[in-house]
Amino acid sequence: MLRDRLERDLERARARTCALTSVDDAELTQQHSPLMSPLVWDLAHIANQEERWLLREVAGHGSVRDGIDELYDAFLHPRAGRTALPLLGPDDARRYAEQVRDLSQKVLRSNNFDSELTRDGFVFSMIAQHEQQHDETMLATHQLRAGPPVLDAPEAPRETTRLERERVVIPAGEFEMGTSADPWALDNEKPAHRVHVPAFALDTVPVTNRQFTRFIEDGGYRRPDLWSVEGWGHRCEAGLEAPQFWHRDSDGLWWRRSFGREAPLHPDEPVVHVCFHEADAFARWAGARLPTEPEWEKAARWDPTTGRARRYPWGDDDPGPEHANLGQRHLGPAVVGAYPAGASPLGVHQLIGDVWEWTSSSFEPYPGFRAFPYREYSEVFFGGDFRVLRGGSFGTDQVACRGTFRNWDHPIRRQIFAGFRLAHDVSDSAEAPDV
Ligand SMILES: [Fe+2]
Repeated sequence: MLRDRLERDLERARARTCALTSVDDAELTQQHSPLMSPLVWDLAHIANQEERWLLREVAGHGSVRDGIDELYDAFLHPRAGRTALPLLGPDDARRYAEQVRDLSQKVLRSNNFDSELTRDGFVFSMIAQHEQQHDETMLATHQLRAGPPVLDAPEAPRETTRLERERVVIPAGEFEMGTSADPWALDNEKPAHRVHVPAFALDTVPVTNRQFTRFIEDGGYRRPDLWSVEGWGHRCEAGLEAPQFWHRDSDGLWWRRSFGREAPLHPDEPVVHVCFHEADAFARWAGARLPTEPEWEKAARWDPTTGRARRYPWGDDDPGPEHANLGQRHLGPAVVGAYPAGASPLGVHQLIGDVWEWTSSSFEPYPGFRAFPYREYSEVFFGGDFRVLRGGSFGTDQVACRGTFRNWDHPIRRQIFAGFRLAHDVSDSAEAPDV
């Protein structure tokens, strides 16, 4: 059972990696943006990480390819300089990835899951999650590349349910944040700990393109009073005037470029490709604020009936296509209200999938944090200039998405599939709606 599940997760990741790297050699090896690696680097880095953990650490294998580890060490070479490295060429990188996978399948089939690294299949899931995280990064590279479209997918759902409420109150009280029990949780999600969250209200859906357009039309990008000092400095320096990939035609109509296709902006989709500073300025304009990380997680996991923290807003069941827009099933977010089956008991929709949601929190360890299995996954990023994002996007696979999963990025980044939702202060005696 466990073995089959892990095998499926690894296979799904590989099928996606292959699809994202099925482009001609020139496309694979060129730098589409200084923010991103050439796709051929991601491909061999995925294999190198798999080799390091599943073949060498778990099975004691020798090196599959000598002398390449250093090339694929993300900490030694900034993304912008990776095309200058003597990387494996496209055919060679594909062969290397296949070679490693053939061997790691054998390791998975024969492993007893009896070490700290392999217990409950942890390290195999970690490698599937790592590959899917790079697949999402490669998807962002595809969004940045110029030229005709190469990716295809059915349009995201356009049907919406009528939302009963615009916002709901999450009452004051403790909940269990993080997890000690989830066998595949990564180190920064652990351990579980009790957190008191004062009462607050949260919008039932993320901020939409329609709402964001009103902010632009009201001079949102020209009013320093709406921005933090740092945010305004960045807005001016980077010349921000609208979310990335938006442009306005001569009739004043907004268009959005998505994976090489231009389309009029859909007013009811969550806004995507905004940086933290844009989200923060919008929130101030709207008389609201961004949720903190504990607020976001309580809204996504806390079950008001039992008081228990669950894996997802809808419960503990794995995400299905009825719950959330995940896994690159579509190449963009669905309209708000498209996933009523994925709503939380209090009626908060689309916390999982569609767009990553910026929170106001910086990326810090939970009390009792222990780096595992390597410091470079999370620990080296704590205390840096990062804000936490939650919930996953249409480009996040379910293996790397749950109510406890933490993502982080610099507050100026907007090539990621990030949007946000608004939180509001309420009095501490405010009560939740009946559920
Ligand atoms: Fe990596």
